[in-house]
Amino acid sequence: MTNTNVILIGFMGSGKTTVGKRLADRLGLEYLDTDERIEEQEQMAIRRIFEERGEESFRQAEMRLLTGLLKEETKRVIATGGGMPLRPENAEALKRLGMVVYLRTGGDTVYDRLKDATDRPLLLGGDPKGTIETLLERREPLYRACAQITVDTDGRSPDQVTEEIIAAVREGCH
Ligand code: S3P
Repeated sequence: MTNTNVILIGFMGSGKTTVGKRLADRLGLEYLDTDERIEEQEQMAIRRIFEERGEESFRQAEMRLLTGLLKEETKRVIATGGGMPLRPENAEALKRLGMVVYLRTGGDTVYDRLKDATDRPLLLGGDPKGTIETLLERREPLYRACAQITVDTDGRSPDQVTEEIIAAVREGCH
């Protein structure tokens, strides 16, 4: 149904992983999660990469992974880490990889979904709600600029979001 990668971008907690797996099933494509791939390649959890090597080292691993994916022929649904499209060179690479879909999520929803999470190093400080709002405000325009399609996820189930993406992908293939 699609001969291109479908790439999901968006903030932490926007549902990229859940929706990505469903979407891959529905489209009959392989699924790839960039965070998982980096953890495999580095043999280390993301939280530990941040703690022991710093955020910059993680960002470089993200860039290396994207460069590698551009050379591969396999078509996939690719769920990215929330910071992946922030560097202009990464945003360009994502656009070259295929159809970029932004899963938009408001700060309250993100907070509700992640308030008990311990695996998001950027949110482990004293004021997670404030951090979410600040990062969202900074990132929102970059997500929008990178994406061909924006899908709202607030108050919607993963299945609803998945179906909306499928309709958009079909539209894009005509
Ligand atoms: C990050 C998001 C995380 C992970 C890392 C940094 C970010 O991925 O890549 O903790 O900068 O937003 P998810 O968006 O899958 O939580």
